Amino acid sequence: METELHEDCEKLLFSAEEIASGTRSVAALLDEAYRGTTPVAVCVLKGAVFFFCDLLRAMRTPAEIEFLRASSYRRGATSGTLYVDDALSFEPRGRDILLVEDIVDSGKTLRSLKASLLERGAKSVKTVTLLDKPSARKVSFEVDYKVFDVGAGFVVGYGMDYAEKYRNLPYIALLKPAIYGG
Ligand code: IMP
Ligand code: MG
Repeated sequence: METELHEDCEKLLFSAEEIASGTRSVAALLDEAYRGTTPVAVCVLKGAVFFFCDLLRAMRTPAEIEFLRASSYRRGATSGTLYVDDALSFEPRGRDILLVEDIVDSGKTLRSLKASLLERGAKSVKTVTLLDKPSARKVSFEVDYKVFDVGAGFVVGYGMDYAEKYRNLPYIALLKPAIYGG
């Protein structure tokens, strides 16, 4: 099916079909990794919400689901202070935790969330992201599982926003630099 691109987008990066098929492949790897266990899958809100729902439904592992909020972007396109609401609604102690993220950019969000969960006694913490932008790292961090790599440029859609817009686009696209002043 031909995807009609939003006028603020420069280029389609991944279609809904490509996202769905990539997500199924990663779900199969996670099923292998978590065989015989009941992990807690944690959605890093808001950006990971659609990926989280699709990934978890593609997995056969009997996972529990939880949510936490983190954001490092404040109405802008550059990574700033990290805001993490770490008032968890679940007990991480002794649990195998899978952090589900939309995109790893500077690496600060997942690095800090992972450290904090381990500090609180999690048995293991693995990370999975829909997109990885390795060229943007500011702290050293390697994600355990990823669906796609992306290059430079600001991406939106399938949960990812710019100033809270574009989250519900069904595909992932590069935003026109003129929109974010890049
Ligand atoms: P990090 O802490 O810099 O790795 O930032 C990760 C968070 O920043 C992600 O969870 C996204 O919500 C947001 N982010 C980073 N790059 C982009 C992008 O290109 N588009 C939309 N959101 C982004
Ligand atoms: Mg995110």
